[in-house]
Amino acid sequence: MAPQSASDPSVNSRQAVELSLISPTFNEKGNITPLVERVHKALSKYSYELIVVDDNSPDGTAELAKSLSSKYPLKVIVRTSERGLASAVVAGLDQATGEVLGVIDADLQHPPEEIPALLEAIRGGADVAIASRYVEGGNIEGWSTKRAIISKGAKLLATILLPSTRGIKDPLAGFFLFKRKVIDGAVLTPIGYKILLEVLVRGNASQIAEVPYTFKERERGKSNLTIREQLNFLRHLSRLAWFDGDVKRFLKFCVVGTTGFGINLGGFWLLTRIAGLRDPYDLVALLIALEVSILSNFALNDLWTFRDKRAGGLKALAVRAAKFNMVSAGAVAIYYAVYTPLTRLLGVYDLLALFFAILVGLVWNFVMNFLWTWKTESQRQRLERGE
Ligand code: GDD
Ligand code: MN
Repeated sequence: MAPQSASDPSVNSRQAVELSLISPTFNEKGNITPLVERVHKALSKYSYELIVVDDNSPDGTAELAKSLSSKYPLKVIVRTSERGLASAVVAGLDQATGEVLGVIDADLQHPPEEIPALLEAIRGGADVAIASRYVEGGNIEGWSTKRAIISKGAKLLATILLPSTRGIKDPLAGFFLFKRKVIDGAVLTPIGYKILLEVLVRGNASQIAEVPYTFKERERGKSNLTIREQLNFLRHLSRLAWFDGDVKRFLKFCVVGTTGFGINLGGFWLLTRIAGLRDPYDLVALLIALEVSILSNFALNDLWTFRDKRAGGLKALAVRAAKFNMVSAGAVAIYYAVYTPLTRLLGVYDLLALFFAILVGLVWNFVMNFLWTWKTESQRQRLERGE
């Protein structure tokens, strides 16, 4: 960078702020003035900018916001070709200069007075600081039982499908701050409402702090959360699950299993036809071919499927190989446990019974190897409040 004098005004005007706060708006005319005022008051001790991203609201939110931008550190972005909370936030992030980035709803359900506590959590070492409804001390005002259940169900789904959200109490929050480096190099392509999911999955945060707060009732305007947004949530989840989740891992595991099948068959052919291990030694050939295929499965899974979960040296490798063998032995037991009652008690056609046995065995193999053979401690630490 060319050296420039600090007194050069053009430098000052481009100077980065500490915090860029993005607020997406759609028809929030009644909330925008108190939002801007309360944010300004809450952040009086910090250098910040507020970026309002409005999707061309018919109620004139953007015009009102623009009129405030001479008095406050406020940028207003108006999008005319796109709609959506999360993508609006991404558009805001593109224009942000802060070292710390943040998201807050404009409808004041997220009290701006909580921002300093989030910022302090970031200063204290957190990569992401979430204003959380579900940690101790957090709360929700005035939700119907129906909405509470939907929220819990959505959270459960996210936890199952997205490993990056595990251990986080409120991964569906809409009020949070994070360090810029978390999304450095990440491409964010959210669908719908849940921008935090996008940041957690596509970004690289290792320390997450959750700060309790009370999600307030909306006083003015109305929520835009429709059935359509709930469907968008499912679309977003499946997109992220593909990227983050163990879905891809499971498919890799299946591919490896298929190669093992070929190796087992081919090995048996070699041993019996070329090496001449004929009756009764074909039984030995069977065992050798099986073990070779188990070992090759292990090697491929270790190098590919569970590559990110390898740890330790040669000894750890040997332990994993032994565990993998034990899991495979368990799978054989499962074949019998599924096949026998299906054919003997229920009279299921034998090939169909075997098919089910293979499916159950596959799931067993995957789950056990995932949870046991390639078990790793979660690398993500949680920063509790006050730590
Ligand atoms: N630009 C833009 N475009 N903004 C939008 C859009 C849109 O299509 N839809 C909603 N917003 C803005 C609203 O104007 C408001 O500022 C904010 O996004 C939240 O929208 P609400 O419709 O009020 O959402 P909610 O209250 O049901 O849910 C919010 O809070 C939850 C709890 O933190 C969302 O932020 C959820 O993601 C969050 O889980
Ligand atoms: Mn709201």
